[in-house]
Amino acid sequence: MDKFLIEGGVPLEGEIAVSGAKNSALPAMAACLLTSEPVTLHRIPDVRDIMTMRNLLKHTGAGIEDLGGGSLRVHAAGITNPEAPYEVVKTMRASSLVLGPLVARTGTARVSMPGGCAIGARPVNLHVNALEQLGAVVDQSHGYIEARAEEGLRGTHIHFDRITVTGTEDVLMAAALAEGETVIHLAAREPEVVDLAELLNKMGARIVGAGTSTIHVHGVKRLRGAEHTIIADRIEAGTFLSAAAITGGDLLISGCVPDHVDALTAKLRQAGASISVAGPGALRVKGGRRLRSVDVTTEEFPGFATDLQAQYMAVMTQAEGISIITETIFENRFMHAQELVRMGANIRLEGRQALVAGPRKLSGSPVIASDLRASASLVLAALVASGETLIDRVYHIDRGYEKIEEKLAAAGARIRRVQSK
Ligand code: EPU
Repeated sequence: MDKFLIEGGVPLEGEIAVSGAKNSALPAMAACLLTSEPVTLHRIPDVRDIMTMRNLLKHTGAGIEDLGGGSLRVHAAGITNPEAPYEVVKTMRASSLVLGPLVARTGTARVSMPGGCAIGARPVNLHVNALEQLGAVVDQSHGYIEARAEEGLRGTHIHFDRITVTGTEDVLMAAALAEGETVIHLAAREPEVVDLAELLNKMGARIVGAGTSTIHVHGVKRLRGAEHTIIADRIEAGTFLSAAAITGGDLLISGCVPDHVDALTAKLRQAGASISVAGPGALRVKGGRRLRSVDVTTEEFPGFATDLQAQYMAVMTQAEGISIITETIFENRFMHAQELVRMGANIRLEGRQALVAGPRKLSGSPVIASDLRASASLVLAALVASGETLIDRVYHIDRGYEKIEEKLAAAGARIRRVQSK
């Protein structure tokens, strides 16, 4: 199992380029199942979750051609096996994204139910309810969700009980091939939803309102092939912004969409970092000499992303005063806090809140990554800790960050991947 060995104390300097968004690439790949024609996707990040989705698409019978340079051509000419098996779903919950496309395209889908997850229960009941409202008959047994709609899906009004990102995406894909109009109420407004809608529209779908909480989908009989470039990964961009802030560095973050990280940049500015737009798609961030504590509450987009909460907590360990971090999206997303405490942070957990008192001198220690974003938070803490930090289970970080150690090392960080004995 790989580990990261990090020696802290170097302010990051230079330029880091952001990769394509994992959470946009995954639904885009699932959307390729909706058409028998080839779909070409560019700026697909080279991360483990994408490999898992490639294997899942192949399992259904789709052909995948790697065109190099982050481009893939997916050709689901025929779907021979409309199934997402447990072995795949247990390693990547986003596998449930194939549920909507498979049932819409083939009239049947069999997708393993995801189990618990390091960050919370993460059920898929909202996906299932919505598909039922679109006319699918859903049976849940033996750990699998089986959806059938041999006569096709019918458009309707879907009122989500709460905002769900992949739930909205699943319904968008299913409704694209449903008969008549579907209106999604309380839709997720995340940029990844907008990106998916753009791809689907290029494929011939008729979707209006993506990016707002009400999306209208006029179903069409068939979708065609298309070519699409995935948006920049806003969580990766936010992680590098946090890395510059925590190390007091001076970084240019290129290839990003500044608007997509507004909620984070507002907080980091209040905390004392200086952040400016440096040309199209670039942000320059200079860490303040003394950071101040600033409270944060995670929310759906355009609020502060839960996927940046762990990284922000690492930054707040270095800020003067007490910051209250409230997690509202997932019930168990503070696993990194105990590891940060082992490095010297002063963090008290009270239910959904973490009280971080700083600044505290962190010292390098062996720590364990528990999920993707928690791993990123430990990397950030290690970048300012004195001495060496050994981060175990970095396979979590490899799920969603492309070559993070190379990108950070190019900006001066002393980080290397080591193989454990
Ligand atoms: N929820 C339900 N029932 C459902 C679906 C969701 O109760 O059927 C609950 C969840 O348990 C959670 C809340 O609704 O408490 C929101 O979950 P959501 O469905 O929005 O999360 P998701 O779609 O499973 C995506 C990202 C996550 C990100 C969340 C929130 C992808 C592939 N994953 O997950 O990304 O944290 O939205 O923004 O897009 C990550 O990249 O590290 C990651 C976990």
